[in-house]
Formats: sequence, structure tokens, C-alpha cells
Amino acid sequence: MSRTEKAAVSSAVILDSDHGPTVPGLAVVVMAAGLGKRMRSKHAKVLHEVAGRAMVLYSIGLGLRVAGHRVVVVVGHQSDRVRQVIEAATAGGNGHASVAIVEQREQLGTGHAVLQSRPVFMTKGRPIPAWYLILNGDTPLLRDETVRRLLRKHQEEKATVTILTAVLEDPSGYGRVVRQSAGGVVARIVEDRDASPAERSIKEINVGTYVVDGEFLFSALDKLDPSNAQGEYYLTDIIHAAVAQGRRVAAVVLDNSDEGLGVNTRGQLAEAEQVIRRQIRQRWLDAGVTMIDPASTWIDAGVAIGADTILYSNVVLEGATVLGQECVVRPGTRITDCVVGNGVEILDHCILRDSRIEEGSTLGPFVHLRPGVIVRKKGKVGNFVEMKKTELGEGSKANHLSYLGDAKIGKDVNIGAGTITCNYDGARKFETVIGDGVFLGSDTQLIAPVTVGAGAIVAAGTTVTKDVPQDALVIARVPQVTREGWAARRRAMIAGNQRQPAGADHKEESDNHRAKHRPSVLKSRQKTNAKKSVRG
Ligand code: UD1
Ligand code: CA
Repeated sequence: MSRTEKAAVSSAVILDSDHGPTVPGLAVVVMAAGLGKRMRSKHAKVLHEVAGRAMVLYSIGLGLRVAGHRVVVVVGHQSDRVRQVIEAATAGGNGHASVAIVEQREQLGTGHAVLQSRPVFMTKGRPIPAWYLILNGDTPLLRDETVRRLLRKHQEEKATVTILTAVLEDPSGYGRVVRQSAGGVVARIVEDRDASPAERSIKEINVGTYVVDGEFLFSALDKLDPSNAQGEYYLTDIIHAAVAQGRRVAAVVLDNSDEGLGVNTRGQLAEAEQVIRRQIRQRWLDAGVTMIDPASTWIDAGVAIGADTILYSNVVLEGATVLGQECVVRPGTRITDCVVGNGVEILDHCILRDSRIEEGSTLGPFVHLRPGVIVRKKGKVGNFVEMKKTELGEGSKANHLSYLGDAKIGKDVNIGAGTITCNYDGARKFETVIGDGVFLGSDTQLIAPVTVGAGAIVAAGTTVTKDVPQDALVIARVPQVTREGWAARRRAMIAGNQRQPAGADHKEESDNHRAKHRPSVLKSRQKTNAKKSVRG
């Protein structure tokens, strides 16, 4: 798959084809500038992957699905890499406005992060957002339905700020929701590190998903005060500010608190992975995919699978892989970034990367496809075949023990067992071209660059060094020498410690002897070879 094809697939999937309508006037801000100290990693936290997708892309995907106005991502820590990942995943945009990326140079807190988005929204001549949805970049489990519910609640209650909360057995680390009375209206959010012991015992936490009125957000952010335990501008302080101004703050409590998981540590990353993997499997089971052992079937977030496909145990589908309908994938196979057509059968223990396999093909067991392979319709690739940057034409077969690299192979070609394209001279790579209907005998070596014309036959054991014309036979082999009774005499010699049998090695064979016998042997052998040895 080309880069652009891949980007198109991945953006299609982060946008999800059957998402609901976008919400007029709603802008989205995703905060993704933080360092993520608690991950103990050299990589920015939001780039850590959950089900094969960078964490931040979950929030961005959600944003793109609901925003009627722009989506802005605030980056900071390792901003170049974060920016690259975002741009690669949202290229093409699928008819949506692309994501705007702004930089927070110093990570002075979540409130300060959101402030960085202001210039994007305050561009002259563009309508100002009516409301904002603000998302943490580390809450990959959040679902669209929940966000839509939050937006509805905000409108119904005519609130200025609406927050999403969850009740957790272990609320440690999260901001706590302080209500005016038990079950009463929200008064403020207090961060774990700033909380009193009494506040720390509150089990209702702030998920980090906020809906805020357009006319309130930036004026409130301007007034934030960083006098707290972390010396940061807390976004969460706008809740108390709204209450203090006599404005309404509403809240939605999650039914399933899993969804509110904020990933700060590797433990939480592993938890998120488990939950998402389960959801992804359920989604494909519901869509008509059979899994013999769901628990051992690993499907990345960006994968698509057709109905009536059967996945056996320990199958791993990664990246932007698209599997067609009625495929069968046997145990232990890993497929990464491949497009697989309908009715393809992939036997056990294959590794397939960045390749295209067209309908009705059969692969495996033990096939290794490296990037850039195209197996055309009804192709067959058998055990211990490795391919790279190679096209195998319609109906062609490479059934056993081959290396095919940098090759273009036509239709209905037979690649004999043990065929090798010698594509590399230690410095450069060269191409091999094989025409339609060619028959390559077993153990053929093709010294690239080389072309075998359509309909040609290459005899087993041939090293092809020169182009072969169409419909020709080519054979290049050391002539066979046969000495009748020699083996028996040798055994007898070893047993009786006798003299070596005649013709045991070249030294004994005189030039005279060779001159007398070889030419005739050679001539007759070559004739029979030509007749007999074209067998694959
Ligand atoms: C935040 C909330 C907390 C809530 C929790 C939910 C605040 C002050 N606290 O805490 O109430 O319970 O999320 O998971 O908001 N970020 C920036 N720039 C910064 C700091 C952070 O962009 O200067 C980004 C991070 O990359 C991350 C998000 O904001 O995606 C949240 O930051 P994080 O440090 O994880 O906040 P928490 O301590 O978890
Ligand atoms: Ca967090």
C-alpha cells in the first residue's frame, strides 16, 4: 500500500464511516502538550499506542466526528513528532476541515494549554465558535455517545460549563469533584495534590472532558491563577470561576467508569489496551466476523474486516490492514498494513507486511511478505517463500522455498521450488522480469537484471544470467557423469581397505581419458536433458 493509500485508510478509520452528525458551532480543543512523566518514557505520552494507534488520535478522531467548527490540537513536548503523527493520520481529511495544530512552548498547565488555541478561533472574518468541547489527549476510551450526551446535557441545563465525571473505587491521582452538598450541584474541582484529606476521600472524579460556552471560555482562562501545589494554570479552575459568577455548571456521571480512564502510567496504558481490544473484537463479532478464540485474536483500531471471515487463534491484525469477506486466517499469522481481497486463505504462521493480496489467493504456511508485494487474483504462495517488492501475476504460483525480490512476474507463471532472484550485488538492487506463462524449473537462480520472455521454459537447476527470449528453452547445468558400479566398488574398498575405485577423483582421471569420453557423454546427455529435465 502506498503512503497516501495508507493515510486515506487510517483517516477513514479515525473518522469512522457511520458516525453521527457534526454539531454546529462546536469547536474542539485537544490537549496534548504534556510530558507524561509518570510513563517513565523518552517518548511523549500521547504517542504511546493503544491497539496500534497513538493515544492522541483517539481524542482527535472523536473531535473530528463531532466538531462543526474547527479541531485544534495543542502540542508541546516533542511537538515535531506529535505533529507528524497527527498529520499522517488526518491527511486527506475525508471532506472534514483538517486539524489545526498549535504549540504550547512551556507546559504551564491545562488552562494555559487551551489558551494557546485562541488565535485559531479569533481569526478575522471567521465565525467565532458558539461552544467548545475540550478533551484531554490521554483518555482513549471515551465514546462518541457519551460526548453527545454531555453536549445535550449542556444545552438542556443551559449550563456555562458541563463536565464528565466518574465514580471510582480508587480515585487517587484524579481531580475530585466537590459538590455543594451530596448529589448537589458542582462547586469546584480540586486536584489530587491540592486536596485536603476530606476531599481526597471523594470518589467522584473529573474525567477531563468539558463543554464550555464560547463567550465564557477565554475570559475565564485569562483570569486563572497558578497558586497551587504544581504552580500551574489549571483548566479545572474555570468551574469554580463559573460558579462564583452565578453561572450554571452541569455534570454527567459515567455509567461505566472504564470510559473515563486517563492514562498517566504504564499500568493504565495496559488497562486501556485491554478495554479497547475487547471493544474492537466485539465490534467485529457484531459485524459478522468469526473468531475461534477471541481472547487471543489481536486486532488494531485501524483494521477493517469483511463479514464471514474466520480468524483462528493467535491471529494478529495490525495497522491499517483491510481484510475482505470470506477470508480464512489460520493460527499464528500476523498481518500488518495489508489489503487482502475477498476469499483469501492464509494458512498458519505467515508474516505479511505492507502488501496487497487479491481475491481468491492462497498463502502459507510460513510465508513472509515484506513491503511492496502484490499477489494478483488467485495467486498461490506456499511454504517458506519470502517476497519483497514483487508482483506475482494472476494465477501464478510460487509454492515452495523461494526468495522473490524486486521482481515483476506475469500471469500463470510457475515458480519452481527453490527459485531465487539474485537481486543484490552487495551494493545495488536489480529487477527481474518474468513474462506470462513462464515455467521456471526447481532451483532456478535469476541473476538480475534479467528478463525471461513470455512462454519460456527454464530447466531445473539453471542459473539464468542472460535475458531469455519468448518461448525459448534455457538450460545451464554442469553435465552429469555416471560411473556404473562405482559406489559398490567404493563400499567394498572401504570394507576391505582396498585400492580406490577408478575415477574417484579428477587426479586419477587422465586428460587423455577425459578427451576420449567426455564429449560424447556431454552431447548425448544434453539431448536427454533438454527432453527430460524441464520438470519443475
Ligand atoms: C487532569 C485534570 C484532572 C483530571 C484528569 C483526568 C487538570 C488540572 N487536571 O489531570 O482534574 O481528573 O486530568 O484524567 O486539568 N497538558 C497540556 N499542557 C500542559 C499540561 C497538560 O497540553 O501544560 C495535556 C496533557 O498532555 C494531557 C492533558 O493535558 O493530555 C491532561 O494532563 P495531565 O498532566 O495528564 O493531567 P492530570 O494530572 O491527569
Ligand atoms: Ca492525565
